[in-house]
Amino acid sequence: MSEIRFTIDGRPCVARAGQTIVEAAKANGVWIPVLCHYEGLKPVGSCRICTVRVAGRYMAACTQPVTEGMAVENTAPDLEDMRKSLIEMLFVEGNHFCPSCEKSGNCELQALAYRYRMMVPRFPYLWPGRALDARAPRLMLERNRCIQCLRCVRGIRAKDGRKVFAAVERGPRVTIEIDQRLAAGLSDAEARRAMDICPVGAILRKETGFAVPIGKRKYDGAPIGSDVEKGAGR
Ligand code: FES
Repeated sequence: MSEIRFTIDGRPCVARAGQTIVEAAKANGVWIPVLCHYEGLKPVGSCRICTVRVAGRYMAACTQPVTEGMAVENTAPDLEDMRKSLIEMLFVEGNHFCPSCEKSGNCELQALAYRYRMMVPRFPYLWPGRALDARAPRLMLERNRCIQCLRCVRGIRAKDGRKVFAAVERGPRVTIEIDQRLAAGLSDAEARRAMDICPVGAILRKETGFAVPIGKRKYDGAPIGSDVEKGAGR
């Protein structure tokens, strides 16, 4: 298979045909932040945290395939500030109280906020009041933390292939719903996968908590992205 040569912030990189910028960057040890993207799921390009610039055009690196000679800007100060502002908007748009959240230390949004050194968001808090859904036997859906990435909708299916989660409404009114009948049939492992696929603490496995103590969780020891930068991959 022929190699594609391109650069990220001037660094020479190599990609395989069909790889997206995010995939190729990772293969070359370059981290590009993602939130709605999840390995193994079809990318939808909805959160825009992975925005890069190529020839003056902004594009979602998780959906854009690499082409020969492409010069990708990834860490220009204005791009980094735009990503930080997106993180801030996600924080003010929901209710994220990290110290009391079981996902703390494993939360990608929290980890991105640390990596981008978010202090006080520059936008006013909206303090939405969204209903929590705890009817499923193994899962709890805390919509106040949902960032509408739709990873659960795309990635969690029942044994017959039907989607366990669904997005209802559009735009700012979009809400995630659970099919209670399908959720009742989820095994422990499937419920755990639903919790893991959620980048925040919106989907939590019931009846287990703090199995891994605070301080020993995924992002407690090293910033998000550092594994990619070390070449280990996610
Ligand atoms: Fe690319 Fe969300 S990760 S748009």
